[in-house]
Amino acid sequence: MIDQKRLLRRTTELAQIGGSGAAVSRLGLSADEQRARDLVGTWLSAKGAQVRRDAAANLFARFGGEGEAILVGSHLDSVPEGGRFDGALGVLCAVEALESLVDAEVRLRRPVEVVAWADEEGARFGVGLFGSAASFGRLAPGVADRRDRDGVSIAEALRALGERGDPAAARRDPAELAAYLELHIEQGPRLDGAGLPLGIVSDIVGIYHARVTIRGRADHAGATVMTARADALAAASEMVLAVERIARGRADSVGTVGEIAVRPGAKNVVPGEAVFSLDLRAARDHDGLVREVLDGVTSVASSRGVTATIDELARVPVTSLDPKIREVLKRATKSVGVEAPELVSGAGHDAQNPALSGVRTGMIFVRSTGGSHTPREFASVEDAALGAQALANAIRELAS
Ligand code: GLV
Ligand code: MN
Ligand code: MN
Repeated sequence: MIDQKRLLRRTTELAQIGGSGAAVSRLGLSADEQRARDLVGTWLSAKGAQVRRDAAANLFARFGGEGEAILVGSHLDSVPEGGRFDGALGVLCAVEALESLVDAEVRLRRPVEVVAWADEEGARFGVGLFGSAASFGRLAPGVADRRDRDGVSIAEALRALGERGDPAAARRDPAELAAYLELHIEQGPRLDGAGLPLGIVSDIVGIYHARVTIRGRADHAGATVMTARADALAAASEMVLAVERIARGRADSVGTVGEIAVRPGAKNVVPGEAVFSLDLRAARDHDGLVREVLDGVTSVASSRGVTATIDELARVPVTSLDPKIREVLKRATKSVGVEAPELVSGAGHDAQNPALSGVRTGMIFVRSTGGSHTPREFASVEDAALGAQALANAIRELAS
């Protein structure tokens, strides 16, 4: 039986780490993320799990011995000023599902591992799905040298957490895994709109992340006539609008510039450099979207006499989740009384890494009434408990 009181208590306890009011700022590979991992590890070792951390700071807690395991979990980091449910709810419900199975003395033929992936959001270093990418051997080369705004590299951040600084050493053989399950808040409005507590993910959008550096020429803002300028910010602005226009013109596509910085950054200097982020997602023809946007950036750069350097940070293709696991999740949600619809996820998830590595993967969505990546995100404990029970049912079917 899922213990709603315990689930609520732990949700609140976890949210204190890096939290202030409803907001949580618990960045990946930070000391706060580590404290969250330690707390989850304590709960699970008290239940008899073998708890370990790998070279990418992922936490694994294993129940049972040899053989292909069922892996179940999500992430514990958040975006800056995010909420308490994105990622954390998936770990909390995985813990709760396992506790309920252990308490009921359910005999599992396969081992089951709970995982808390490190740095899913990539808010600090720009590398999303970090821990799961490391575990499935999908990190881009040289990633450990990426630096945050304070000049700290991923390798250094890992060393500060007691690791060796070599995240690629976290790689494990996907053949050790019989399946991967992840529960997550929906982050969009569809379940709420349909009045349903749970959904099942069919596909996850393709995601492209890049940092674009525009170099023009810094000049005196009073003494430089308009026709003689190479204004990096004006060029970047035209590119931002091109991203919006292109994404609007394509089916099932979104494009976002969420960060921009200007140098030297003074009101009386024509901007010499602008650096902005690119987040491009599509449920189909993701490559086409990326190509069209990059062509747009290049053509604005040449028409404005500036240069554009594109530093690709991540590229994850559209990911279909396993049809058989979707059937298992269908039964698992039905047995808690929910006719769960299939949904495409517009958010990226750690589940993409196992799925793209050939592990049979499935995801349950729990209704969120306030979207996500803001303190407004909210999943009721009743909905979360239904999700945790469905997860427990699915683990039971897959592991016994
Ligand atoms: C993670 O939440 C993402 O989709 O960016
Ligand atoms: Mn997120
Ligand atoms: Mn998430």
